[in-house]
Amino acid sequence: MVCGSYSEAERGELPRLAADASLGCGNPVALATLSPGEVVLDLGSGGGIDVLLSARRVAPGGKAYGLDMTDEMLELARRNQAEAGVENVEFLKGEIEAVPLPDDHVDVVISNCVINLSTEKPRVISEAFRVLKPGGRFAISDVVFLGEKDKLPPGVARSVELWSGCISGALEAKEYEALLSQAGFDDVAVEVTHTYPPEQVAGLAGEDVEALRAVPVASAFIRARKPE
Ligand SMILES: C[S@@+](CC[C@H](N)C(=O)[O-])C[C@H]1O[C@@H](n2cnc3c(N)ncnc32)[C@H](O)[C@@H]1O
Repeated sequence: MVCGSYSEAERGELPRLAADASLGCGNPVALATLSPGEVVLDLGSGGGIDVLLSARRVAPGGKAYGLDMTDEMLELARRNQAEAGVENVEFLKGEIEAVPLPDDHVDVVISNCVINLSTEKPRVISEAFRVLKPGGRFAISDVVFLGEKDKLPPGVARSVELWSGCISGALEAKEYEALLSQAGFDDVAVEVTHTYPPEQVAGLAGEDVEALRAVPVASAFIRARKPE
């Protein structure tokens, strides 16, 4: 499983359940440098760890929204919120392809290992752009391919999906940059934080390992800014 990178101090801020429920591939809260008074939206909030950490960072005066499409995850997140005693939080039911918030509403969009799951990534990115205020930041963690994924045999891409449990249809780093620029974002940057050794991907051997060595899978911080 590709999993998060929270410090012990951050884990200590949360109910054990929320910390254990992380299914992410990075720590977008660390990436986003949040300030009191800001409004944050987490796309695909799962058990709510990043929403709860963000809510603490934007208090007083700020708010953190978590958006998820499954009732099960929303229930878990609301239980974790109650246990953490954090009030400036709202968990919304909906899809990241059609965010149930008005235009120009949030300062920061975060997300942890979710956008790769969408079959409509350009819509997700344009929804993030729409709900961000002018000057707002897009600061997410996701999994990317470093190279041209079309060069991978289909069986290898499938093995990567099965192994990770949360990667399907990961973009190439260059595709991510292109989608963000096309949506209107400035200051687009993809920073690789961890490259997964091909030998670690269960079910791969021989030539398939070599194929994945040529097009490795990595976790990355992906940043961009909506123009003022
Ligand atoms: C891999 S988990 C990551 C959860 C959380 N971000 C974390 O780091 O622990 C993916 C989450 O995204 C949600 N999700 C996946 N696709 C979605 C979509 N299109 N719209 C809304 N939520 C989605 C799932 O329900 C699940 O809670």
